[in-house]
Amino acid sequence: MAVRPKVFVTRPLPAPALELLALQCEVVVHPEDAALAPPELAERCRDTQGLLVVGARVNQEVLSHAPNLKVVANCGVGYDNIDVMACTQRGIVVTNTPGVLTDTTADLAFALLMAVARRVAEGDRLVRDGRWQRSEWGLLWGADIHHQTLGLYGFGRIGQAMARRGRGFLMRIIYHDALRASDVIERELGAEYVDRDTLLREADFLSLHVPLTPETHHLIGARELSLMKPTAFLINTARGKVVDEEALVAALKSRAIAGAGLDVFEQEPHLHPELPKLENVVLLPHVGSATAATRLKMALLAAENLLAALEGRRPPNIVNPEVYV
Ligand code: DGY
Repeated sequence: MAVRPKVFVTRPLPAPALELLALQCEVVVHPEDAALAPPELAERCRDTQGLLVVGARVNQEVLSHAPNLKVVANCGVGYDNIDVMACTQRGIVVTNTPGVLTDTTADLAFALLMAVARRVAEGDRLVRDGRWQRSEWGLLWGADIHHQTLGLYGFGRIGQAMARRGRGFLMRIIYHDALRASDVIERELGAEYVDRDTLLREADFLSLHVPLTPETHHLIGARELSLMKPTAFLINTARGKVVDEEALVAALKSRAIAGAGLDVFEQEPHLHPELPKLENVVLLPHVGSATAATRLKMALLAAENLLAALEGRRPPNIVNPEVYV
């Protein structure tokens, strides 16, 4: 009987994904739902051929301890946790899970947009804390969403899904992206391509949908925030490091912008100490794709990608196709 490849899974994933892997592999699952630090992960990878990661960093240290590694399957669309170049140099295939989480993540981005504009979390705190003691006409006035301008920085799958939601709220849609979308997509979504500064100046809601790369690190800093309207809101469900958090806190405190809805932070799970003190932000713990149905699809897709690579087939969601050249 052929030797079954060894696979290490960094978190307890839903059973159907683990069962799929177990059909063909010897599977070890880290029992804790917490990211393993590189030294611990390196220890676990010594003799594995496949690594299925959720959030854990896969850097040179990990790779140098894993001479047999053939594939790193990321359970997530963003793969900034993985040193892809180092993997490619070692002939290791890297995969991710795009597509299956698009609508779920856009739903959450829109939920944040609505929550911060209509002061949902503030209202919830007020009621829970027993501070709602009389009916006030002037209580918690928020900002309208309908007929406002939705600015999308990044117009890939999730940015476009956000445009669809904005259209449902009769919003004007503008976007900026390194790659302009086709006429067909622009027409279908009623989206207008604008340059970066026009996007910042005209958006009532600026929602970020770019991956974290060296080019997008601190894409939104003091200059960009100063171009935004004082009535505008920033929504970030992409990656925390895309925004200079220090500059954002300053802009929120001085009301240079009206508010922010954030699902991601520069040093997760640590927050900038000023953020929780501000009323004009809604803060979530990186749960953009966190629904039972979507997390199951992500886990299954990551497992399928991993199995394909171990079998020598080209995985459907390969990040570094150059390994096959
Ligand atoms: C993703 O898929 O990139 C989400 O942020 C989960 O990490």
